[in-house]
Amino acid sequence: MKNAYAPYSKFKVGAALLTTSGKLFLGCNIENASYGMTNCAERTAIFSAVAQLGPKTKIRAIAVVNNQNVPCSPCGACRQVIFQFGPEAVVFFRGASEWKEMPIAELLPEGFRLQ
Ligand code: THU
Repeated sequence: MKNAYAPYSKFKVGAALLTTSGKLFLGCNIENASYGMTNCAERTAIFSAVAQLGPKTKIRAIAVVNNQNVPCSPCGACRQVIFQFGPEAVVFFRGASEWKEMPIAELLPEGFRLQ
């Protein structure tokens, strides 16, 4: 979160990803003057893990925090990417009134798979 590049929203996000093999990877959001090119903290952590470990990377859990301590569950795009590399992953995030722990399949029912 401290490394986030968020000059536009000022909303700094951090993600900590635990692989099924017990390795930890961190990510932050990285914004862009062309707003749509922004990468969320969750996807930064996932892409970093895959870049280091290779295509067999499996996510066991991923936790998300933000510098404003407000509710912040992963966006739809990140849910699909979490699902891809961890269909049984558990996601930790701040909900409306408490910290939450939810399986990705509950956050993203019927996630897309390419057969
Ligand atoms: N953002 C994340 O990094 N993760 C989330 O789960 C929600 C949103 C970022 C994207 C953008 O840089 C900023 O938060 C405001 O949307």
